[in-house]
Amino acid sequence: MNDKVIIFDTTLRDGEQVPGCQLNTIEKIEVAQALEALGVDVIEAGFPISSPGDFNSVVEISKAISNPVICALTRAVKKDIEVAAEALQYAKKKRIHTGIGTSPMHIQHKIRTTPEEIIKRAADAVKYARKFVDDVEFYAEDAGRSENEFLARVIEAVIKAGATVVNIPDTTGYCLPEEYGAKIRYLVENVPNINKATISTHCHNDLGMATANTMMGVINGARQVEVTINGIGERAGNTSLEEVAMIIKSHYDLNVRTDINTKLIYSTSRLVSTLMNMPVQANKAIVGRNAFAHSSGIHQDGVLKKRENYEIIDPVEVGIKESSIILTARSGRAALNHRLELLGFKFGKEELDEIYHRFLLMADKKKEIKDEDIKVLAGVVFQGEKSLKLDMLQVTCGKSLMPVATVGIKINGELHYATATGNGPIDASFTAVKQLISKTVHLEEFLIQAITKGSDDLGKVHIQVEYDGKMFYGFSAHTDIITASVEAFIDALAKIQ
Ligand code: KIV
Ligand code: ZN
Repeated sequence: MNDKVIIFDTTLRDGEQVPGCQLNTIEKIEVAQALEALGVDVIEAGFPISSPGDFNSVVEISKAISNPVICALTRAVKKDIEVAAEALQYAKKKRIHTGIGTSPMHIQHKIRTTPEEIIKRAADAVKYARKFVDDVEFYAEDAGRSENEFLARVIEAVIKAGATVVNIPDTTGYCLPEEYGAKIRYLVENVPNINKATISTHCHNDLGMATANTMMGVINGARQVEVTINGIGERAGNTSLEEVAMIIKSHYDLNVRTDINTKLIYSTSRLVSTLMNMPVQANKAIVGRNAFAHSSGIHQDGVLKKRENYEIIDPVEVGIKESSIILTARSGRAALNHRLELLGFKFGKEELDEIYHRFLLMADKKKEIKDEDIKVLAGVVFQGEKSLKLDMLQVTCGKSLMPVATVGIKINGELHYATATGNGPIDASFTAVKQLISKTVHLEEFLIQAITKGSDDLGKVHIQVEYDGKMFYGFSAHTDIITASVEAFIDALAKIQ
């Protein structure tokens, strides 16, 4: 049986520290419930002494969650530990995560004390935390830049004081994978009581090595990994949960496993990205928009012959319906023909050559060729099928006013109007739009971004709606964000046709 690697998710603590990513308590509970469904073992819910809001979130998450251990962060300070214990009072399974810096840099320039004093404060904090809970994790902050010999002495002392988990953070993301792996191995081989505790990795991504370092930790004996959804976290972020989970799933030869239900990875990623207003970069491993998109002709041909030619993960395994073939000037005949067939067209070789020729001319002018373009190229122009277009929008809103929106939309060239109220101007406008279309759609993602920073800035809006099990993407940019939002919504709806 493969060894289990415990997944410790710190999206709601290290991830939530990112400027602009703050969530309210209700949103945090929503994320915590998604993490529970995903199968994480430990949820680090917050740093209770840091603010009343964080304290309250740990209390509410503790009440709402049943299976994962709920963990609260503290410094090696009695008051922090007392407040964390109080915040965890309703947790069915609870852990206090306490710690102190162990690197020469932190000892001399942050804590300004002696190495001997660090060992004493570390052990005292663990002992004190054990008065409140049975499960105490110790973090050796900046372990990445700590001397291995001293780190081993600290770890031995905290395990003796009752630590059940010892966390070895590469706080500044400095270590090379070999170096981090060797550090974990050193602890395994040189801390006499190490078998009484689980070793945890906690890596930051400042040099882009967080996942590599985490895996080297696992390979060398760590059995807990501290991760966040989408790799969000301080500065360049933390190790991303989805990367570690899929590496472990793909590499059977590592002889380790996790309890993550990988089919929920994509939906959890979307939820965190949307609630935290943190777009996922398009080429992000596993969950980026392009992670399963193929655009070069050679790759498209290979994927169409057998998906595994260019994909090591089946997108279905992470909750994405299928890989996508993006038609661009670099696409070949095979990809074009495949798309034509999906659209219901069948052509012989000569006709296909002719369409391909016209396709290349068009692709030189447009970045991406959409299904509508393909239909035109195939000589099938659906007269009058087009489309939805925003003709007018009038919104009334303000403090103490009920938001009301009237929209005028051209549907197949004919102008229709609807008026609706809502809990805000965008909700009122979307409700009015929905009155004019005869389809039940669900808004899956809604992201507003300012392009620069002024109040006169252009707002970009990205929207994804779900209709009949499929996703449709809409975009618009406007100085008026309500207009941009409605246009993006209509852009997505127009694609449903
Ligand atoms: O990066 C770090 O060292 C941390 C600790 C508080 C665990 O986040
Ligand atoms: Zn951290």
